[in-house]
Amino acid sequence: MTRNIKIAPSMLSADFSIMGEELKRVDEAGAEFIHLDVMDGVFVPNITFGIKMVKDLRKVTNRVLDCHLMIVNPEKYVEEFAKAGADYITVHYEACKENLANVLKQVKSCGVKCGLVINPDTPVEKIEDCINLCDMVLVMSVFPGFGGQKFIADVLDKCRAIRRIIDENGYDCIIEIDGGINKDTAKLAIDAGCDVLVAGSAVFGNEDVKSAIDVLRG
Ligand code: DX5
Ligand code: ZN
Repeated sequence: MTRNIKIAPSMLSADFSIMGEELKRVDEAGAEFIHLDVMDGVFVPNITFGIKMVKDLRKVTNRVLDCHLMIVNPEKYVEEFAKAGADYITVHYEACKENLANVLKQVKSCGVKCGLVINPDTPVEKIEDCINLCDMVLVMSVFPGFGGQKFIADVLDKCRAIRRIIDENGYDCIIEIDGGINKDTAKLAIDAGCDVLVAGSAVFGNEDVKSAIDVLRG
């Protein structure tokens, strides 16, 4: 597979008391994307951080800030995340539903790249008509809310289906996968057509984050 694979360490698994230093470690280790999991305690049963964290981390890196919004009514906050310095803003289909196309257009209108994410039990058909509006489709390989969960291999079929749709239509859109990525599941995801691999525990659970990242690239 000759696709250029990018690694997105999830800061959810970092030590929040030294977030800037943790970010610098993975930046220096060559991670192309920095994955920021924003959780509101409503869309998912966990709470993390928000706009201020994005703004402050923006000061310490030039890497791509990849903001995964696990929040209800994301349209209320898109503009502020964009102003804070997000490069990608990714919203859940399940949080937007019939308003989805409008939210995606709103993200683009803020001058940032637009991502669309689906949970493990959401079929590709639900988002098929909107893939042309996206710069990235994120396939969840765990139910969102927590790091360290087991990879759900059934989602690989959805990655393959999305890859086919993108390639057949010539869309300028990448595929990211998030949840339970380790060296074995990374290979499955790459073979299924993914471009960006999010990894939390597999990166920060290792003293040597550089070798953890290199291993994931395959
Ligand atoms: C889960 C988050 C993930 C999570 C991944 O809701 O979206 O980004 O941090 O963690 P690991 O790689 O440990 O499954
Ligand atoms: Zn995530």
